[in-house]
Amino acid sequence: MIFTVAIDGPAAAGKGTISRAVAERFGFRHLDTGLLYRAVGAKGGDPVAAAQALVPDDLVRDDLRSLAAGEAASRVAVIPEVRAALVEFQRRFARMDGGAVLDGRDIGTVICPEAEVKLFVTASPQVRAHRRWREVGGDEADVLAQVIARDARDADRATAPMVAAPDAVLLDTTEMSISAAVERAASAIRSTIEGRA
Ligand code: CDP
Repeated sequence: MIFTVAIDGPAAAGKGTISRAVAERFGFRHLDTGLLYRAVGAKGGDPVAAAQALVPDDLVRDDLRSLAAGEAASRVAVIPEVRAALVEFQRRFARMDGGAVLDGRDIGTVICPEAEVKLFVTASPQVRAHRRWREVGGDEADVLAQVIARDARDADRATAPMVAAPDAVLLDTTEMSISAAVERAASAIRSTIEGRA
């Protein structure tokens, strides 16, 4: 079965947790596309060459989750040639037999506009910064400033900006627990699967 779940949204909105949970529940493969950009940023040197030469081992570095790696990712993510180098891999993953969940910024708009289910997961900047701060520690006001700056860079770039696809289901998790958000996402997927049967 070819079935793609596209989960987009701003930094620390809960996309990763929701993606992993629904992938496990439906037996789909999961790709955290942010990790591709984080790995390109972390490699240093020429970002276009780094994106073109990206290999699976680059994705298992243990420093990719830091705030600095997120910042570096969003800087390389504005470069059209970097994005172009990563498109084919993501598209193939999305349409692989067996079902796939991809989370990122442009999955429902650019990578897989034909995705069967599209979700745009968001929350207020304060709530997202608080969640990220609990993961990475440090000064919460700094985390908030970085989250806001990264969102602005992602939303304002010319190529594949972060934007909800017109047919995406919006999931605002500001006052919703992540487990409730997982249930909402799962029910959207289930009803689409049942509608196709
Ligand atoms: O986990 P978090 O939401 O903070 O970030 P991420 O999904 O790991 O993405 C890190 C950065 O990579 C984002 O701020 C974007 O600049 C970039 N990115 C992108 O441009 N397109 C994607 N599909 C995924 C990530």
